[in-house]
Amino acid sequence: VKLVTTHQLQAMKQRGEKISMLTAYDCSMARILDGAGTDVLLVGDSAANVMAGHETTLPITLDQMIYHAQSVVRGTRRAFVAVDLPFGSYQGNSSEALRSAVRVMKESGAHGLKLEGGAEIKDSITRILAAGIPVMGHLGLTPQSIYKFGTYTVRAKEAAEAQKLLEDAQLLQELGCFAVVLEKIPAVLARQVAEQLTIPVIGIGAGPHMDGQVLVVHDVLGITQEFKPRFLRRYAELGDLMHQAVTQYVSDVKSRAFPTEAEGY
Ligand code: KIV
Ligand code: NA
Repeated sequence: VKLVTTHQLQAMKQRGEKISMLTAYDCSMARILDGAGTDVLLVGDSAANVMAGHETTLPITLDQMIYHAQSVVRGTRRAFVAVDLPFGSYQGNSSEALRSAVRVMKESGAHGLKLEGGAEIKDSITRILAAGIPVMGHLGLTPQSIYKFGTYTVRAKEAAEAQKLLEDAQLLQELGCFAVVLEKIPAVLARQVAEQLTIPVIGIGAGPHMDGQVLVVHDVLGITQEFKPRFLRRYAELGDLMHQAVTQYVSDVKSRAFPTEAEGY
């Protein structure tokens, strides 16, 4: 199999082939997503929500992200594996950012990193890129800043914030980022960014005019059932299926239908 590289993602934008990206946090899931041809697996800090049950992404640690990343890398043969640097591991100063970045790359074997923010984290991005580590930007709704925003509603609806987003996107490209994620912003603005940039722009809740799309896989598969934003399309109801299967298992154990003599040694 031909491996997905930053170079290939760039070529996909140039020829107008859309990039498919999903989150993954463990090896079993990574095997399935990679086997189905997902181009980019994101070890998202949404693991804090989906895996650990936290309300926000803030509590997840660098060590925990590395554990998830190692697991995903082991299950991946073709996809590009990108890892979120977690809250607090890169915003403060660029040498700490580099240290965090190097740890993830060295200890997990992932192929690149994603960092939230624009001009504010310019020095950190520059230093990580200088070490030869591919960086993906993330603008718009950046969940690590949830306590600044106050809500998870659409970002950059006002002119000033939209202008800053356009400038940040341009900056990320100039610094050398290989792609940018835009989360939950107006489709018109997102389209403008995708047209303005030569690097791939990957959207979540950013409309159809993107170079690629990303979603949280547990949402896509219907494993998380409470979360129903407009931008989410559910491709399966695995939560229901799993509930049925486990209900049957419990019932079979109770009724002694499982196991049979043939299922023993
Ligand atoms: O952590 C995450 O899941 C993400 C994507 C939704 C972009 O950052
Ligand atoms: Na994230």
